[in-house]
Amino acid sequence: MKYQADEKRYDTMQYNRCGRSGLLLPAISLGLWHNFGGVDSLDTARAMIHRAFDLGITHFDLANNYGPPPGAAEENFGRIVKRDLAGYRNELIISTKAGWAMWPGPYGDLGSLKYLTASLDDSLRRMGLDYVDIFYSHRPDPDTPVEETMMALDRAVRQGKALYVGISSYQPEQTVKAVAVLNELGTPCLIHQPNYSMLDRWIEEGLLDVLEAEGIGCIVFSPLAQGLLTDKYLDGIPADSRAAKEYGFLRTDQVTEELRDQLHRLQVIAQERGQTLAQMALAWTLRDRRVTSALVGASSVKQIEDNVAAINTTLFTEDELKRIDNILTVTDSA
Ligand SMILES: NC(=O)c1ccc[n+]([C@@H]2O[C@H](COP(=O)([O-])OP(=O)(O)OC[C@H]3O[C@@H](n4cnc5c(N)ncnc54)[C@H](OP(=O)(O)O)[C@@H]3O)[C@@H](O)[C@H]2O)c1
Repeated sequence: MKYQADEKRYDTMQYNRCGRSGLLLPAISLGLWHNFGGVDSLDTARAMIHRAFDLGITHFDLANNYGPPPGAAEENFGRIVKRDLAGYRNELIISTKAGWAMWPGPYGDLGSLKYLTASLDDSLRRMGLDYVDIFYSHRPDPDTPVEETMMALDRAVRQGKALYVGISSYQPEQTVKAVAVLNELGTPCLIHQPNYSMLDRWIEEGLLDVLEAEGIGCIVFSPLAQGLLTDKYLDGIPADSRAAKEYGFLRTDQVTEELRDQLHRLQVIAQERGQTLAQMALAWTLRDRRVTSALVGASSVKQIEDNVAAINTTLFTEDELKRIDNILTVTDSA
């Protein structure tokens, strides 16, 4: 059946300015790291993209290596765009990245000009796009001069293959350096993509201050800690969950008794707020106005609906924040 976007798609989503740029991003964005690969159902993937767009999610985040197999998520997304979203390209913010291992040999990994340039061409071909909206350096490369990696981003913009550029998982000092190089080249850094959740708060130790000072947006990945911060693992490990799958990066041994205890206690606060645990965890990442968007993953339409509803209650009382901190701190020292 032909997809027709919901006319009310812009009625409820909140859009936040990305740093000091002209670009607004939805408070909730959708990433295609898992569940959009060759091993997954294309029908479910398609249904999730449709529902996301109908709910005002305009931003879809990819990378060259998303799958499995690597490249498959971009191919599947390309199929969905061609079939259903081609007429909506101007309403979409599509990002991709290069920086993790993609092909054999010395030119398919890390941060060389050679790798990033060839990879972006491959990504555009797989997705059937003329340009991406954001092209990222997926991770810092300790052995390539940052000038070279940033030159690759600048070049992508000058060639019309990307509109904006970003960096992912760069530490504060690395960010300062990369941003200075980009400014010199004349292609400002739009956005940083770090991981951030109640279970990993490293960006509070300096990165957010750097981004604020530089006027750069922040889109946080794995805000649900890959699903740990939901009701999914409260009483066991469901067979269809990410932790139970043989591919991916969430392991069953990460679901400890201490974590479960912590999750049960967090859920009490979520219930008092009238939210699911997932909704509270997402709202918590968005409580800091420097966080532009929470970049979630999903394996079903229902999860996307649940997650988008998080934006209805993003304010926290001082007391709630203190209680959450206490719960998180207990496990830190356990
Ligand atoms: N820049 C980087 O280096 C980097 C690294 C990682 C991720 N990312 C980006 O960030 C995106 C999100 O990462 P992520 O998938 O780890 O994010 P996440 O939102 O922390 O975890 C998503 C997983 O949580 C579960 N889930 C989501 N909503 C739920 C709900 N309402 N109730 C119960 N369970 C729910 C699902 O697990 P099940 O599949 O088990 O149902 C889903 O696959 C990626 O797709 C990618 O775009 C970037």
